Amino acid sequence: GAFTEKQEALVNGSWEAFKANLPYHAGVFYTLILEKAPAAKGMFSFLADGVDTNNPKLKAHAEKVFELTRDAAVQLRANGVVVVANAPSLGAVHVEKGVVDAHFLVVKEALLKTIKEATGDKWNDELSNAWEVAYDALSAAIKKAMS
Ligand code: HEM
Repeated sequence: GAFTEKQEALVNGSWEAFKANLPYHAGVFYTLILEKAPAAKGMFSFLADGVDTNNPKLKAHAEKVFELTRDAAVQLRANGVVVVANAPSLGAVHVEKGVVDAHFLVVKEALLKTIKEATGDKWNDELSNAWEVAYDALSAAIKKAMS
């Protein structure tokens, strides 16, 4: 069904909770990614020495992934589709780094767990599902640009 106003509000509210402690949540996010995909250490330039939450590049990339997912939720509610602004170059970066479909699942699980941690007792299935739907639509747009 259509992405609802409530789903958009759930994503927006928890995006604020994520951003309120960005270095910490970025650390949780990359720690989860490395647990599931240790090889990602060699893919991200900023993970070579492990998860350093003071590294501005690490914070910037984490913020981008969550921010674009949040943007995707806003677009889904407004237009029913997700258009990624610089899709060709974003697709090219990921192809060049050796990103494959399975990595998108690893990142999704890490994103959902990070949102769970960031929202605490406000977390519920509906909130998690809203993030998942937005992330899946965004991922599909990036994967399309990669192919
Ligand atoms: C780079 C977003 C999924 C690995 C980037 C950049 C953005 C981005 C905005 C910076 C591009 C630039 O330099 O101009 C996203 C979003 C994703 C996603 C929104 C999911 C919806 C993934 C996945 C992986 C991945 C699944 C693999 C685990 C990378 C790597 C870089 C990168 C290795 C280069 C970072 C560096 O070393 O500086 N991504 N990405 N991304 N992404 Fe993603």
